[in-house]
Order: sequence, then C-alpha cells, then structure tokens
Amino acid sequence: MVSASGRGFDSRRLHHFSFDSLSLSGGPHFILIAMKKVVIAIDGPAASGKSTTAKRLAERLGVLPIDTGAMYRAVTLVTLEAGIDPHDQKKVEEIAQHLEIQQVFENGEVRTFVNGQDRSRDLRTPEINRWVSLVSSYPGVRRSLVEKQRAMAKRGGVVLEGRDIGTVVLPDADLKIFMVASPEERARRRWKELQEAGMEIPFEEVLQEILRRDHLDSTRADSPLKKAEDAVVLDTTNLTIQEQVEAILELLKKRGLDP
Ligand code: DC
Repeated sequence: MVSASGRGFDSRRLHHFSFDSLSLSGGPHFILIAMKKVVIAIDGPAASGKSTTAKRLAERLGVLPIDTGAMYRAVTLVTLEAGIDPHDQKKVEEIAQHLEIQQVFENGEVRTFVNGQDRSRDLRTPEINRWVSLVSSYPGVRRSLVEKQRAMAKRGGVVLEGRDIGTVVLPDADLKIFMVASPEERARRRWKELQEAGMEIPFEEVLQEILRRDHLDSTRADSPLKKAEDAVVLDTTNLTIQEQVEAILELLKKRGLDP
C-alpha cells in the first residue's frame, strides 16, 4: 500500500482521499492514493478573531488563507474612489463583476491585489467600514465574489474566512468553524488594533460600529451571517490566538484531517 501522506491505510481518512487504482495483469494490485487537500471554512462576526486564526492555521498546515472580507472591502474601495454613490446598486454590482482580485500569503500576511495593485493597506479605513455592509448586501456583488472565491478554493489546501463560507460559498467544506466572542471583547480587540495603527478612536465608537455591522450583516436578505448547521462554534472571548489555533488543529485531528 502506497499512501501520499506517508502513513498506513486508515479507513477513517477515506473521505478526503481520492482513489485511482492501477492493476497490473497477474501481478499485485497497486493502489495510488492522492490526498485531497483540506478545505476549512471559518465564519463569524467582525473582530471575532477569524483572520488572525486563519493566517496562523495556514502557517501551521501549509495551506492558503483567503480573506473574503477583503474582497467586499475592495469593491467598496473601488466604488468610493470612482466617486460612485454606494447606494447605486447597479453601478456597484458592475464594479464587482469587473473587479480583478488576487490574494497572496507573504510573511504571515494576506496581501490583496485589486486591479493589479497591492491595496491591502487601504482596505481597513473607517470610511470603508462605514459602507462595506451596504455594498456586501447587494446580490449581484455577492454573486460575482462568491464565484471568485469558489475558483480560489477549487484546488483545496485553503482556509477561507468570512460570513457565508460554510453556508453558501463552500457548503461541502471539510471543517466549518463558527467563531464568536462578546461584542465588548471584539470592540476591545478592534480598538487595540486601531490604536496600534495610530488611530485614536473612542472605545464606545468602536463598539457601536461593531454592533451596527453585526446587525446589518446578520439581517440582510442575501446570505446573512449565520452558523451552518454542521459548523462547530468556537467562543474566543477568553481564548488567546494560540488557543484558538490549537482548538481547530485538535478538531482536524479528531476528524482525521490533519496533514
Ligand atoms: O471580515 P471583514 O470585517 O473584513 O468583512 C467586511 C464586511 O464584508 C463585513 O461587514 C460583511 C462583508 N462580508 C460578507 O458579507 N461576506 C463575507 N464572506 C465576508 C465579508
């Protein structure tokens, strides 16, 4: 028995292997087993720890992290820069349709290239935060971006994080995590990040912004933020990033999905 994973045969691992069997006439049967690369979906509200966890997990597993929120932010950025009113649904949907977007994972960070340029630094401004929930509520925007996300995930070996990954984008993901944390803890994390980036924004303002986005993201008609039935809830309120990553690695191991 030859296994691409270098391990002995284990029937529990069957579901993520694909088989190709080659029989040589009269001789022994060789079974070549190619490992299908793991697909992980992480969903949850703003600042629940999804993106840092996805990046650290990607480093540990050697897979690619895909930040789908950055894609909705990119559509918002291009809209605002073109001087288009974000309420103009048709124009925003056209922008999403023609958007060229790539993500690369470099030095532990996901870089987002929008129409050929690295715009990673421009995607997290208060102005983008203000408009991104409206932009991401448009069905035409979602259709275009979901198509791109599925294409990015097609070859496996990915961890996608967002709001609708387990429910809509990748309903067949190998592992689905739904990350939650109290609004106060999420606001504290976001406030700290902003401070470190030199932005002095009152805590209460950050908390209100998070609550506003939670409401918009979970009440929109198309693909609202919600837990997939088969997702595992991970409450990160009292967990460090390291503990979050370890908890997911443990789940992968239990399911025989660790590399
Ligand atoms: O994860 P984030 O804060 O960067 O996401 C920005 C916004 O994009 C979020 O408020 C809702 C939207 N979003 C979405 O609708 N679906 C996703 N898969 C990811 C993000």
